[in-house]
Amino acid sequence: MSTPTRILFVCLGNIIRSPLSEKLFEHVANEAGVGEKYEVDSAGTSAYHIGELPDERMRRTAKRRGFVYGGSARQVKASDLDAFDLVIAMDMENMNNLLRLARTEEQRAKVHLMRSFDPEADGAVAVPDPWYDGPQDFETVYDIVDRSVRGLLRWLEAGASAPE
Ligand code: 4NP
Repeated sequence: MSTPTRILFVCLGNIIRSPLSEKLFEHVANEAGVGEKYEVDSAGTSAYHIGELPDERMRRTAKRRGFVYGGSARQVKASDLDAFDLVIAMDMENMNNLLRLARTEEQRAKVHLMRSFDPEADGAVAVPDPWYDGPQDFETVYDIVDRSVRGLLRWLEAGASAPE
């Protein structure tokens, strides 16, 4: 069997956007029967929430849709840019922090914006940070993440070249 593609999803705290992305990607890849082709993980650029479970508000939003998940937050480290094949940033701030961590062109080329895989992004570049927002915003972020992981999987399965 060939080596799995390793994907790291990155946000600020690793408790809202990136753990949902990791677990939903895993779920849709398993559903599509291609789960064994991928290894996924998530991390935060900050150390704010290390060791914590994913945010309860997002887990509640997911549970209403029948999706239950857990996890434990960790901070991204420079070696992640070697250990993973693709590093998916939720917004420009995450992307810039990752690019600052990168030391080589090869590492920089692994970093992509999550919404470049969302077919309904309509020019939006960020999966918005809902930390200070209400329940409706968590629903919106869930939908964005759901569309983006499906778009990412389609792109990977099509073997296309990297988006800009
Ligand atoms: P995340 O959301 O980056 O999607 O995990 C946030 C989590 C925590 C904070 C901000 C955003 N915070 O300010 O602690």
